Amino acid sequence: MPLTILTNDQVKSILENLTLAQLDGFQRNLSKALHEYSTDVKAVQDGTYHQPQRTSYGNPQTGATTLFMPSVGPAGMGVKVVTATGFVNAGAITAFRTALASSCLLRLRGTVQDIVVFGAGKQAYWHLRLALLQHGATVSRVTVINRSESTARQVLADLGAVAPEIRSREGWQPAVLDALTPDTVGYAGLLQTRLREADVIFAARRQGKTRLVVAVGSYTPDMRELPQELLLQSAKASQDDPIDGGAIIVDTLEGVLSEAGEIIHAKVGPSRLVELGEVVDLDQIPQGASLAEVRTKTEARAHWLRNGNVIYKSVGLGLMDLTAGGYLLQVANDIGLGTRVEDF
Ligand SMILES: NC(=O)c1ccc[n+]([C@@H]2O[C@H](COP(=O)([O-])OP(=O)(O)OC[C@H]3O[C@@H](n4cnc5c(N)ncnc54)[C@H](OP(=O)(O)O)[C@@H]3O)[C@@H](O)[C@H]2O)c1
Repeated sequence: MPLTILTNDQVKSILENLTLAQLDGFQRNLSKALHEYSTDVKAVQDGTYHQPQRTSYGNPQTGATTLFMPSVGPAGMGVKVVTATGFVNAGAITAFRTALASSCLLRLRGTVQDIVVFGAGKQAYWHLRLALLQHGATVSRVTVINRSESTARQVLADLGAVAPEIRSREGWQPAVLDALTPDTVGYAGLLQTRLREADVIFAARRQGKTRLVVAVGSYTPDMRELPQELLLQSAKASQDDPIDGGAIIVDTLEGVLSEAGEIIHAKVGPSRLVELGEVVDLDQIPQGASLAEVRTKTEARAHWLRNGNVIYKSVGLGLMDLTAGGYLLQVANDIGLGTRVEDF
């Protein structure tokens, strides 16, 4: 069996130049794996999938935390480094695969016009990059809200550095890319305005505006990144409500119930949480197809995912690394990138 080795630069060159067709391949692979993980009880019982809880070690001297996230699936076994078919530098993968999972929901949205991101690190960059790759033609404004101005400016500069032909192909050249930081003149008032705008999620029917809220930051019972009222609005709605959906989407039920502080604190039980793999199975969708062609459980659910207030909470799982890393190796082999060791 050949073995492929991808350096950080090679990983970045693939991800930075991703085409819509390659993104489609990544999304299909991930959504299929998540779908099987969430719905194929037999595969879990057979031992085809193992998704052990992550192990976390803190170094009291440096304050650094190291997470070990193993995963076993049909594609092989991985602990960030995908073994059996290749070694991939994991630097860029974590943020990419987290945004890739979010992008499976973003892909189902109708028109996306206004994107607000809190934070300006790697997660912010990849969430923005994949959002623009998929919905660039309709996005009119991107606002990055961050504690420090330099990081916020840097993430916008990184987006601005995307080649003009790629931006024009994706259609987001006219979009306004803006940063809001404590150094901005009138910061407090502007922040209040943006938060008030975000608040229309509480009054969606009155305002006629809805949101996809993606929360990937908190990962311990003490951390909370979403207000309780927001979670309860979705969780308390009827389950065939086409606006609030009656559920919160999570990447892993087990992980979120034990690690996501806001879900634990709001006491949202498993009956009101639905795994991402249960709602996105892109294998059912022909490439480039619209949501109207998608077979979903109910019309109301399809409407909710496309037009409603959708909250997605992610704590991450090793299966995402395994699947995204495995597909990255496939793309690298297709384009002849990486060091290939035949007959490894
Ligand atoms: N769900 C998942 O699977 C998954 C996977 C990976 C990471 N994550 C989470 O995603 C989040 C972002 O990760 P990343 O890789 O993008 O990190 P990163 O590149 O280090 O960026 C961190 C961002 O958070 C801001 N920040 C840090 N501490 C802050 C504080 N005390 N107050 C306000 N802002 C603060 C930083 O602002 P400054 O520029 O001002 O420093 C920066 O914008 C983290 O919470 C991480 O745990 C989730």
